[in-house]
Amino acid sequence: MNRKINQLIFSMMFLTVGISCQNNTENKKVEAVSSEQLASEINKNLPAQVAEKEHPGKAVYTKYCLTCHQADGTGVANMHPPLTPGSWVGNDPQELIAIMMKGLSGKIEVNGEVYKNFMPSHAQLTDEEIADVLTYIRTSFGNNFEPVTADMVKKIRSGR
Ligand code: HEC
Repeated sequence: MNRKINQLIFSMMFLTVGISCQNNTENKKVEAVSSEQLASEINKNLPAQVAEKEHPGKAVYTKYCLTCHQADGTGVANMHPPLTPGSWVGNDPQELIAIMMKGLSGKIEVNGEVYKNFMPSHAQLTDEEIADVLTYIRTSFGNNFEPVTADMVKKIRSGR
């Protein structure tokens, strides 16, 4: 009698374990397939640029600013000031746009360091490129400031 009950309990346990294992593998299978499908569907429907999540201002920065201010915006000691938090990057966009238009020279202080160098004008860039690059530096290197629009650049360029 006891042995029979034991056997019964044993086979019930076996059955339960068996069923739950089966359920687990089935669940996993269904999940894996559907998330893969979802990811490929999402990628198919996104333009390449958005999928890479790269800000358009990064290309402008790489081409026109990186040699002096460096890829990570830390600049070069005693020569090119940093664009990291505490620099002028968070200043009024009008001031930054003016620097793009006219360049900058003379003695300035950034993050407690004095620079006495020369930055050329970047007025040759389009309103869009200036807005993009300023937005890029204002949201990179640890910065988190409001974007700059092409309209703001246009106004300052035309002296309005
Ligand atoms: C040839 C080197 C050079 C290039 C190229 C250059 N800069 Fe500068 N930048 C400087 C120097 C040098 C200063 C400081 C000028 C001074 O000492 O008066 C400066 C100052 C600045 C400042 C204000 C100070 C600060 O660090 O916050 C900003 C903002 C800035 N640059 C952004 C840019 C952006 C954006 C670009 C690209 C569109 C760019 N610079 C391209 C050399 C450069």
